[in-house]
Amino acid sequence: MSQRRISGFSKKSQHQKTRWLIEQYLQDIPEATSLLATYRHPDAKRQQRHDDFIENALTNYYLPYAVAPNFLIDGTLYALPMAIEESSVVAAASNAAKFWLDRGGFKATVLGTEKNGQIHFNYFGNKEVLASFFTDIKPILIDSISHLEKNMKARGGGLLAIDCIDKTETLEGYYQLHLRFETKDAMGANFINSCLEQVATTFEEKAAQHSPFIASQTIPEVVMSILSNYVPECRVRTEVSCPVTAFDTSDINGATFAENFVRAVEIAHADPRRAVTHNKGIMNGIDAVVLATGNDFRAVEAGVHAYAARNGRYQSLTHATIEDEQFHFWIELPLALGTVGGLTSLHPLADLSMKILQQPDAETLMRIVAVAGLAQNFAAVKSLVTTGIQKGHMKMHILNILSQLNATPSEKEATLKHFDTKVISHSAVTRYIESLRNHAPS
Ligand code: MEV
Repeated sequence: MSQRRISGFSKKSQHQKTRWLIEQYLQDIPEATSLLATYRHPDAKRQQRHDDFIENALTNYYLPYAVAPNFLIDGTLYALPMAIEESSVVAAASNAAKFWLDRGGFKATVLGTEKNGQIHFNYFGNKEVLASFFTDIKPILIDSISHLEKNMKARGGGLLAIDCIDKTETLEGYYQLHLRFETKDAMGANFINSCLEQVATTFEEKAAQHSPFIASQTIPEVVMSILSNYVPECRVRTEVSCPVTAFDTSDINGATFAENFVRAVEIAHADPRRAVTHNKGIMNGIDAVVLATGNDFRAVEAGVHAYAARNGRYQSLTHATIEDEQFHFWIELPLALGTVGGLTSLHPLADLSMKILQQPDAETLMRIVAVAGLAQNFAAVKSLVTTGIQKGHMKMHILNILSQLNATPSEKEATLKHFDTKVISHSAVTRYIESLRNHAPS
């Protein structure tokens, strides 16, 4: 037990770290060493790139990387790169893309690109003293980040505004400096955080010298400075529409289908439990593209879900209506994405994703990612109100079941053929494989 406590771990070499891990936690797993080694890249330079991303990197954690073709977005045809482990997501995206390809494709509009961050501080003195201090030092605060803003300004971005906000109704003595930024094609987290920390330092320095604060012994104290991942002013909308008759098939009446679809979306507005799963399906598409392009999916997730709860209740991100027998389906959501900086060019596959997407700027990427979410939701709700999702899901998941059962290529082939027209379940596939093995010539 005591040997498991270790100091200076990060200073050890990758070999030493691996050896320690095996000795302490993986002694009974003979294949652990080779597993960790196998998943490292054989090209040392490429591996070093990955090792440098994070501390204590031992190996790489693979996810499948796929493309979903046929996405017609504002007249341009894209193949969307997607990094995701869930069986049916890419197939569903591809199906939705194909459906809308023949019906005018997706239209997308960026509604804003503004990011923000806050300097949170305590102040228990006179509010007017604080207000007049802030007015006086505002130009100094802005000036203090001019060296940090230089490159960003050259690209058309930078600080847009800085306000002092009284938050004492939510928490006694709590105020914030709220800063708004334009970061152009960068997601901008580093830029924003550097600016915030500099402004906070200047703010504290000036506050400590301000005689009314000193006289009343109520000097503002900064608690923390950090960007916000809640970015409702950095928002995108995408939509599709078609006559309800476009859904007509031999089994389905298009108008009935469209009504059921709209009802399903209404339910996701009415019931938070359904809304969470509904939005999870949207994030299947969004996260996969965000990850494939080297963007921060946790930031996107946090901001999107907060946005879904903006009316005081967690609700669907998508909307659907039928007007004059025309089906309309759209999504509006905040997305802070970058196409320069961060991992976007450092991770070779993120860089490749940008090339697949024809080197989009941040606004184009926002439109593409929003489309991935809408398409995914279309596919999910379409399945849910018709066949149910298990049919499509299990069709893809059967390969995972076969892998778990260590099926040979010929067992796989026979099983896929057998289940082509049958209901797939884990137990049914297991039984079938067992029957194959029991009847195989020894
Ligand atoms: C599964 O990953 C996603 C779905 O549950 C989404 C939904 O229910 O809308 C199919």
